[in-house]
Amino acid sequence: MQDLCKRFSRVRKSRCVENSLDRGGIAAKLSAMGIMKRTCFPEKKKKRWDSHQPKKTGKVRPLGIRESTWEVNEDPPKQTGKDADLNVSENRQVFSENEAKKGASLFVVTSGKGGVGKTTLSVNLAVELASRGLRTMLVDADLGLANAHILMGVRPSLTLTDYLEDRCSVSEILAEGPCGLKLISGGQGIKEMADLDAGGRKRILDAILDLRAYADVIIIDTGAGVSSTVTDFVEAADQTIVVTNANFTAIANAYGIIKVVTQDGYKQPIHLVVNRARSPEEAEQVCEKLTGCTQKFLEMEISYLGLVPEDPRVNRAIQKRTPFTQLFPDSTASQYMKKLVDRIEQISDQKIQT
Ligand SMILES: Nc1ncnc2c1ncn2[C@@H]1O[C@H](COP(=O)(O)OP(=O)(O)O)[C@@H](O)[C@H]1O
Ligand SMILES: [Mg+2]
Repeated sequence: MQDLCKRFSRVRKSRCVENSLDRGGIAAKLSAMGIMKRTCFPEKKKKRWDSHQPKKTGKVRPLGIRESTWEVNEDPPKQTGKDADLNVSENRQVFSENEAKKGASLFVVTSGKGGVGKTTLSVNLAVELASRGLRTMLVDADLGLANAHILMGVRPSLTLTDYLEDRCSVSEILAEGPCGLKLISGGQGIKEMADLDAGGRKRILDAILDLRAYADVIIIDTGAGVSSTVTDFVEAADQTIVVTNANFTAIANAYGIIKVVTQDGYKQPIHLVVNRARSPEEAEQVCEKLTGCTQKFLEMEISYLGLVPEDPRVNRAIQKRTPFTQLFPDSTASQYMKKLVDRIEQISDQKIQT
């Protein structure tokens, strides 16, 4: 790793766990905690974002920001990154030694259930962090089904597949994203990557750990579930962000991944983001119930990092291959994303020394 990392635009255990989710057990536990009760998801009690008064329970740390209205300014965004059109990335970059600084904070974004918004969250978090001048890398570790590059309008010419097959070094995979963000893509539509063995996973993890010297923050976007292709990345991370929606299966599976990594000995902070929330109250209820379960059955605390509201602009931004924080910077979703990034900046040094 001597030839790492050219121009960041600004200064500044692996264990095979193939167990499936104990759905019955989880359902019973969540039910015991009241999570299955319809009252947890009060369709009729849905409140406007502007009337929200976050509860201060001490355990759950809401990041609710007040919104005066759901309506947002849809003026064209200020493009600080690349155009929405797909761009061939500038690969084969060389990092200079003097850019090596203190090691980056390593966040992993994961979930029990697929499709809850991990990649959307990861991409927008990473772009927002990069826009704030932090040297940021995003690793798309949804191996074989990587799609973070699509959400940011980048077409990487090299992926982790090329690295694993010894066609290039890891620094040559780094693709240029918006705001100076560096992207490592996990390869799309490649079965061998999805079935990667322990040796391959270790090579990828070692490469990521080597890159830490050249970044301030590294975000790893994983696939869903409790297979080793997910848990290996969690176990290497300084902090884990579990993403869920408010629906029961997503919450139950979020509990499942927390249970698996905790029982495997993961001791670093675990944070929760509730995506596609229909109200701040709904997100807080999801978090309180999940926190109740982890305290009662796993004897561990998770913290509430925040929420991203359900917002059709998120999907529109994906179709335009531009992060929604850039395309719709004044949208409610972008405002909440900025709060999440504020919080990440605050907690980025919270690795527990083990
Ligand atoms: N906050 C949101 N509001 C509306 N739709 C969303 C939101 N977040 C995600 N989505 C939708 O959910 C889909 C799946 O998101 P994605 O990030 O790919 O999930 P995952 O990475 O967990 O599989 C996206 O294509 C998008 O349409
Ligand atoms: Mg994804």
